[in-house]
Amino acid sequence: MLTFAQGHKALHQVLNTIELPKLSKKDEAIFLKRLEQHFPKLAQNLYELYGDHYDFFLHLQQLVFTLASNFSNRKLALKKRDNERLADPTWYRSEQMLGMAVYVDLFAGDLKKLKTKIPYLQQLGVNYLHLMPLYLCPEGDSDGGYAVSDYRKVDPRLGNEKDLIALANALREAGISLVLDFVFNHTSNEHQWATAAIAGDPQMQDFYYFFENQHEVEEYNQTCREIFPSVRRGSFTYIPKVKKWVWTTFNNFQWDLNYSNPAVFTAITDEMLFLANIGCEGLRLDALAFVWKEKWTSCENLPKAHTLIECFSTCLKIVAPSVVFKSEAIVHPDEVAKYIGKEQCQLSYNPLQMALLWESLATRETKLLSASLKKSFEISQDCTWVNYIRCHDDIGWTFDDDVAQNLGIDGQDHRRFLNQFYTGRFEGSFAQGVPFQENPSTGDCRVCGSLAALSGLESAVESNNKIEMGLALKRIRLLNSINLSIGGIPLIYQGDELGMFNDHSYLEDPYKKDDSRWVNRPQITDSDIAEAQSGSGVQAQVYQDLKQMVSIRQANPVFGQARTQILDTYRSNLFAYARIANNGDKLLAICNFSEHQRRIPASICDILAAEKVVDLLTEKQINQYGDIELKGYDVLWLKTEENQLKA
Ligand code: GLC
Ligand code: GLC
Repeated sequence: MLTFAQGHKALHQVLNTIELPKLSKKDEAIFLKRLEQHFPKLAQNLYELYGDHYDFFLHLQQLVFTLASNFSNRKLALKKRDNERLADPTWYRSEQMLGMAVYVDLFAGDLKKLKTKIPYLQQLGVNYLHLMPLYLCPEGDSDGGYAVSDYRKVDPRLGNEKDLIALANALREAGISLVLDFVFNHTSNEHQWATAAIAGDPQMQDFYYFFENQHEVEEYNQTCREIFPSVRRGSFTYIPKVKKWVWTTFNNFQWDLNYSNPAVFTAITDEMLFLANIGCEGLRLDALAFVWKEKWTSCENLPKAHTLIECFSTCLKIVAPSVVFKSEAIVHPDEVAKYIGKEQCQLSYNPLQMALLWESLATRETKLLSASLKKSFEISQDCTWVNYIRCHDDIGWTFDDDVAQNLGIDGQDHRRFLNQFYTGRFEGSFAQGVPFQENPSTGDCRVCGSLAALSGLESAVESNNKIEMGLALKRIRLLNSINLSIGGIPLIYQGDELGMFNDHSYLEDPYKKDDSRWVNRPQITDSDIAEAQSGSGVQAQVYQDLKQMVSIRQANPVFGQARTQILDTYRSNLFAYARIANNGDKLLAICNFSEHQRRIPASICDILAAEKVVDLLTEKQINQYGDIELKGYDVLWLKTEENQLKA
């Protein structure tokens, strides 16, 4: 172990032995102050990871130099943003926040054209834009860009580096925070580190996990989960050129980086800070659960993965403190929670809530949703959830089996039911999803499909069934309402705001046909947008419902910095929660997950302690005596009238 005092001493030794790049007097003072503040802890963490390397101190020197050069490259406007965010560190908890995730090509064509879509984003209230990976990647299959060949180059089909900077600036001026992917678990097999490794460079082979011995590979395979079992069994790929196996958790062309090598940490930190200096305000930590590996473990969520992420986060705090991390851990809820914290990821996807919203929609029962969120929703007040309903990936049913067991639900059977339901194989199901990665040995499976397809709108339109269309629209509104109000940044996935259906055209593309996640990655045309914005069909209804709820959210601070309390409704189909702000402001949301009318005693409103209670969505006053009635899939956003008038 290294003590804090030793970390501090190490810093001064480093500073005495390297020459920093030229910085202005003011910048040098800022940089040194931040080092004083953060470096000792960073050194302690790095020592835990790399202390047994004979050249540990040399790596520290190199790292400090890397931090200083990136700080000297940071533009004035970004440094200004750093100061603003340091003065308002939980800016991402505001009720104003609304996110959207888009593919540059599918949403706009290219980076230049994306600039022209800014007014569209603003009309909806979007101020957080996650651009799916836009870096240079292999032609053909690149796992949707998640196989990066060069973090500093833009995929030429989307534009160039200048276009990206111009877009980042335009977004910032429009008040939209740019979020980019930090794909740091692996590179593509075409990254220059990988090509050098294939050419036999031993130093570059050490950037990855290479094994000569098949027996060793098989030992790892005994304990590691298969992520894409329909692509390849096990987690390794044989490279004939070097007669070795390389670790590939995902596709064969995605090579896992070897973070037990400190040179990899420094090299990737340099890439990360380059991305920060483009002008993004959030980095999405792709596949972060997998970044640390140890024999005879699952190689997921290991304690040192957390230490590593803390190290990256500290480097950001030193160079680019306005940039926050978003955790993409699609794992057991207890493990998801461990990545969330001021020292690791300030933001995190909320995969538990996402999966259980779909679960409740299928079962019409809310007990698993309520019990699970009671256990797992609360996180540090310094952080926030990124709530979502759909994303570019599949839906994995990552709930806690023990919570389910207590409610008499068998996890494995229930997952089988959910897969059957959402792939339309269950009699009476409204959903039209597609299975993803069925594992022949374990029977595991996940589900893909757009919001409109999974909630029954697509099949209702196909069969021209007006009643079913009405129900599906209410299901979509129900899910959106929770996403917007339960606490966190609501993240809309491209096209779902327009009620887009599944897109089966991927089946004709040889590079996509085996990856059914493409079914929910549709191209969005101007006419799709025009139809939703001014048409009169179901798509327009989806858009209008969403827009109405967004404007209510953005006008009421109780949707921002407030605590969430999951309530007992004692009604199997109803789900309710309260939002309680520090100033006493409160909101009560009640949702009916059944298509039938349901009632609940109005005494549930006691939590608001108000004489007059109004539903923000209909502006109707609630009679606080007797029962409150909710029609099929109804949602109520209840608030005291006084507060509503204030807003
Ligand atoms: C993440 C991405 C997914 C990708 C994987 C490997 O989970 O969301 O699309 O396949 O990482 O990079
Ligand atoms: C697995 C991984 C997750 C990834 C997904 C891609 O669920 O845990 O990180 O996004 O696979 O399908």
